[in-house]
Amino acid sequence: MKDETRLVHTGRSSEQHIGAVNTPVYRASTILHPTLAALEGNTLPYGYGRRGTPTTRGLEESICALEGGARTVLTPSGLSAVTAAILSVVGAGDHLLMVDSCYDPTRTFCDGTLKRFGVETTYYHPTITPDELGALIRPNTKALFLESPGSITFEVQDVPALTAVAKARGLSVLADNTWATPLWFKPLAHGVDLSILSATKYVVGHADALLGTITANESHVARLMAFHGQFGMNVSGDDAYLAHRGLRTMAVRLARHQETGLKLARWFKGQDEVARVLHPALPECPGHAIWQRDIGKACGLFGVELKPIPKRAVAAMLDGLELFGMGWSWGGFESLAVTEKWKRVAPGSHKPQGPLLRFHAGLEDSGDLIADLEAGIARLRNAA
Ligand SMILES: Cc1ncc(COP(=O)(O)O)c(C=O)c1O
Repeated sequence: MKDETRLVHTGRSSEQHIGAVNTPVYRASTILHPTLAALEGNTLPYGYGRRGTPTTRGLEESICALEGGARTVLTPSGLSAVTAAILSVVGAGDHLLMVDSCYDPTRTFCDGTLKRFGVETTYYHPTITPDELGALIRPNTKALFLESPGSITFEVQDVPALTAVAKARGLSVLADNTWATPLWFKPLAHGVDLSILSATKYVVGHADALLGTITANESHVARLMAFHGQFGMNVSGDDAYLAHRGLRTMAVRLARHQETGLKLARWFKGQDEVARVLHPALPECPGHAIWQRDIGKACGLFGVELKPIPKRAVAAMLDGLELFGMGWSWGGFESLAVTEKWKRVAPGSHKPQGPLLRFHAGLEDSGDLIADLEAGIARLRNAA
């Protein structure tokens, strides 16, 4: 079965729900048990709302099938999927290897809560070689965290090679795969143990719900389920329903986000004020050859590094955009533009020349979007 077919047919059983195509929203905390034996024996498929309902389990099944995993759990946001995945594999006195191009709140968690609980983090350069990575592994290193392409700068990591080094040394390997989604890249097939997704982005796809998923291979199911259960993580039936509904159309949406994103990225490359366009599909992107080998597809998110220019010029450009909204997150049907701060500590990190912008190509007509950007660049020039 191809993924596109899987997206449509997994995780639903109409015969159990009056023939309805979509599994309805179950809102349940207490689930009544018919006998004492059922209550004490915990024999029902659903025993307490926090541990799942047909609405949440259906979504878990669909994501798990797409990821090719052994088990998926849902979390209230993508960030909580990142933090829960990390907490399921490290403890006091352990050491974590974190990619320097991680999503910024992931870094804040490592430098804050994780440090407070006695876990040390080392940030490594996203394009580190397997040998260099091996040299960073200590006796107490428990996990390698990957995010490829990375946030803000979009460097592509050699996931199979770095994973092989980590696995040979007994580490758990975690990957934030939000950019590629399991449709374009399947971390577990490359040896990763826990694949993390902010489903808020392309799974939900409509900017109206937050949700995260963690999918484990067989070796990591027990510890993931233990942490997730003990921590009391739960997702509402309404949000799980929206995510599952979004997932059904993710393949067609993603193809369109990709096409428009590439058109916009190539258009930006032709602008005099632009120093670099940060998009894995462009040959100059660090790790482009690896992207070609392992992913070969793109979503609608990319970066634009401007040449040095006053802030007021950037404001003139962004404030006047009519089709691009200014706001956090991405992966919805709408186009977005934001400025980004650049925080890097690993040796050899790229230093930006000027302001860094991030664009999300939505589902609008690409010609309309480029016309909006052309007017924006004209304002930028005038204001500079
Ligand atoms: C790469 C990546 N991972 C995780 C997250 C966090 O997802 P959420 O906003 O659902 O918490 C984001 C959000 O922007 C992200 O870009």
